[in-house]
Amino acid sequence: MTDLKFFSGENIPLEMHKVRMVQKIHLLPVEKRLQCMSEAGFNTFLLKNRDIFLDMLTDSGVNAMSEKQYAAMLQADDSYAGSETYFRLERVLSDIFGMKHFLPAHQGRACEHIIARTLVKPGSVALMNYHFTTTKAHISLMGGVVEELINDEGLRIQSDNLFKGDMDIGKLNEAIKRLGKEKICFVRIEAGTNLVGGQPVSMSNLREVSRICRKEGIKLIYDASLLTDNLYFIRIRDPEYKDTEIKAITNEIASLADIVYFSSRKLGAARGGGILTSDEELFVKMREMVPLYEGFLTYGGMSVREMEAMAVGLQESMDMDVISQTPIFVEALCSELLAKGIPVVTPPGGLGCHVDAGRFCSHIPQTQYPAGALASAVFIASGVRGMERGTLSEQRNDDGSERPAEMELVRLAFPKRVFTLSQVKYTADRIAWLFSNRNLIGGLEFVEEPKVLRFFFGRLKPVGSWPDMLVRQFRKDFGDSL
Ligand code: F0G
Repeated sequence: MTDLKFFSGENIPLEMHKVRMVQKIHLLPVEKRLQCMSEAGFNTFLLKNRDIFLDMLTDSGVNAMSEKQYAAMLQADDSYAGSETYFRLERVLSDIFGMKHFLPAHQGRACEHIIARTLVKPGSVALMNYHFTTTKAHISLMGGVVEELINDEGLRIQSDNLFKGDMDIGKLNEAIKRLGKEKICFVRIEAGTNLVGGQPVSMSNLREVSRICRKEGIKLIYDASLLTDNLYFIRIRDPEYKDTEIKAITNEIASLADIVYFSSRKLGAARGGGILTSDEELFVKMREMVPLYEGFLTYGGMSVREMEAMAVGLQESMDMDVISQTPIFVEALCSELLAKGIPVVTPPGGLGCHVDAGRFCSHIPQTQYPAGALASAVFIASGVRGMERGTLSEQRNDDGSERPAEMELVRLAFPKRVFTLSQVKYTADRIAWLFSNRNLIGGLEFVEEPKVLRFFFGRLKPVGSWPDMLVRQFRKDFGDSL
């Protein structure tokens, strides 16, 4: 796919698949979209799928599956213990990652739970390129602390650094010196770093982090949930890997870590998760927890049908035509928006297009959640559901004060191989309209605020009556258009 050029010179993301099953979607009128958003407490997590036009909340568990994945589901071997399905999946994982042991778990955060219980002690510090919400929550629950060591470019919304997920090696050395290695429970590198805009980690960075961890005797954990985007970027952005097989890159990554874990709601386009390791001691410790929290060792809380789909999906993830689809569509949306002067995270990453709500809504203070407000406004203007990734997704400090996020982003995720180019163009069009009316957008305040992971269930209300004004303007500009 990456070798393809159009005669016109245009850069168009071309689908390397055809659609053989479809789901009808509906676009409600703008007044109804506002009503749905109000009923959902201005929290896009609480919208109902039936009211959504394009669901760009996440790629988690909603990726398109191949006909081979569906076919494989039929051969699933239902047995509590010793299922053939497990052994098939284990063989695929061992081939791709080259690690000795596989522990199944029902999704990514279940892996994080097991890893945190095994390695985190009260007061210990987990060093990482950047946190993910569920990872941090599990470490905090065990009494640990997260310290982020991402390079400074990683937090710059617009940059030309091609590997913005890289850990700052100087900061890593400094943290080890300051804390002492006994206090560090592990170092964690997240592929396709989610919360900074799906940004990749370079192989040279991972190699250096691994070398330091091995020298110091600190465990290195690699979160491979967003591995495929990272693999794609290593192939196209690092000249050293331009001819390397995707599987060989994957193998090299795994050889540098002590534990690799993943959400297979993302990696492998199914629903589940898993932990891989070649470390016997860690394996034995983590194994105890699988039957306790997940299910027996040969299914770990997953449906065997999903495990079969995962095995095929993982093999398909080693194909450049398959894994290029998300990043090239993300790039297409980012380019459309940038061309209209709308600020987005650059370079475009994997996972989704990340709109800079901090600049889009620079008139809204962080205490009124500009990214949450923009996500609500995008739904009202378009029926597109995105996700707030800003202050609302942070936890408050112990004294109850807000912890302003380093970036205020609205993520428009691309479930793998789900949306088409005209849907991308529609999204860009409505966001451009919103941008030209951005002064109408106001802030949000909490009505109900849960203590843990508040962004999932929290309910908010608008500060003032800006959503009504937005709807009035929409009608003025679009007449009776949906
Ligand atoms: N690690 C990363 C990097 C993730 O992006 C996620 C999930 C997890 C771990 C947890 O996996 O959902 O299977 O428990 N990310 C989803 C998202 C929720 O929308 O970005 P899970």
